[in-house]
Amino acid sequence: MNILLLGSGGREHALAWKLVQSAHCDQLFIAPGNAGTAQCGTNVALSATDFPAVKDFVLKNGIGLVLVGPEEPLVKGITDFFRKDESLKQVVIIGPSQYAAQLEGSKAFAKQFMQRHNIPTAAYREFDASNFNDGVEYLKQHALPVVLKADGLAAGKGVLICQTTEEAVSEFEQMIQQSKFGEASKKVVVEAFLSGIELSVFVLTDGKSYALLPEAKDYKRIGEGDTGLNTGGMGAVSPVPFADQSFMKKVVEQIIDPTVKGLEKENFDYKGFVFFGLIKVGNDPYVIEYNCRMGDPETEVVMPRLASDLVEMLLAADNGTLAQLKVEQDPRVACTVMAVSGGYPGDYKKGLPINGLDNTLPADSLLFHAGTGIRNGITETAGGRVLCVTSYGNSIKEAVGKSRKALEQISYEGMYYRNDIGYEF
Ligand SMILES: Nc1ncnc2c1ncn2[C@@H]1O[C@H](COP(=O)(O)OP(=O)(O)O)[C@@H](O)[C@H]1O
Ligand SMILES: [Mg+2]
Repeated sequence: MNILLLGSGGREHALAWKLVQSAHCDQLFIAPGNAGTAQCGTNVALSATDFPAVKDFVLKNGIGLVLVGPEEPLVKGITDFFRKDESLKQVVIIGPSQYAAQLEGSKAFAKQFMQRHNIPTAAYREFDASNFNDGVEYLKQHALPVVLKADGLAAGKGVLICQTTEEAVSEFEQMIQQSKFGEASKKVVVEAFLSGIELSVFVLTDGKSYALLPEAKDYKRIGEGDTGLNTGGMGAVSPVPFADQSFMKKVVEQIIDPTVKGLEKENFDYKGFVFFGLIKVGNDPYVIEYNCRMGDPETEVVMPRLASDLVEMLLAADNGTLAQLKVEQDPRVACTVMAVSGGYPGDYKKGLPINGLDNTLPADSLLFHAGTGIRNGITETAGGRVLCVTSYGNSIKEAVGKSRKALEQISYEGMYYRNDIGYEF
């Protein structure tokens, strides 16, 4: 079948790499894609949020399956758009409905869902202009640090961890009264701070059953030793050493099972990935957040460790037969190291030529493009996160070492990557 993948990051290059390995994949199109996805299929100059244009392309090119990479089209309702359109009824679309995507698009919606289904998460309250003063009182008696979250999508910037009550009250005021994050912060979730280590767990669900994918840990800070500003992600490892069998049993029993049962009980139209952002407090898992799609850069280690046919899995999610599917994992460790533009996550240049891309990589390393483009036949930088190298190994150290070695062959002005991905293991 012909497949259309929406998105343009490292996640999409890893998904594209995996999709074309399937016997079910005839032609693969990626919209809009990047210089790396162009090596897996055909890039199409389409915006993933221009639904009528996506429809037009799907019909003209006999697309049978659409996989939505990023959250924005999902939160804007692309799945509902497909379900409502008579001419698109036969097309399989992987991604939750607009209503279900609120699990990512609204922190308050997600917290209420977790509460209804007794899923462990930090204690919280939600506030907006109508109960602003109650919020200030609540903050004044809240333990420190305290976490403030803009309810809506805020490009990864809407969460503030406040160390003092004054700071919390001031930020709370700016979020609600002065729309610090626009519409997204008209409502604010105030939650207790949890202390522990984070990890990401992924499932593919049909809304009733699910297939568990390899877990991963990502590295968000720009600086080595987890210092400096937050980024989209500087690297990832899988498997996660502390996510042993007994911990993963708790994750399944206390978090994944009740979440998927909740989706079924509440009749969510959810055929797609669920990303559980978890934190291990003592020996127990808590949910920090849900995302309604795969993570980036986690996908760049999860897809290489997935031995099963991805297209078969997506089709099983669509027709509700996931329960019968056996997911095979590659037993090796996979690690990815992300190279970014100089200055990122602050201001950075784009359009810088990338050298060394023709060097052959070792057999157990994979290059995934993130923010790259092609101009006059030359591959150049086109974003903050530029490209990453994922390597397999017997240990995290070995795999990261291979990725760093491969990155030494590649260069562009201002190139930076962390040398210490996986340092704590
Ligand atoms: N209750 C909490 N306790 C401790 N840290 C938190 C808490 N909530 C969020 N964080 C930190 O903030 C980060 C971002 O929060 P998250 O809810 O994942 O929002 P988003 O990814 O949408 O920005 C988390 O990865 C975690 O490091
Ligand atoms: Mg997050």
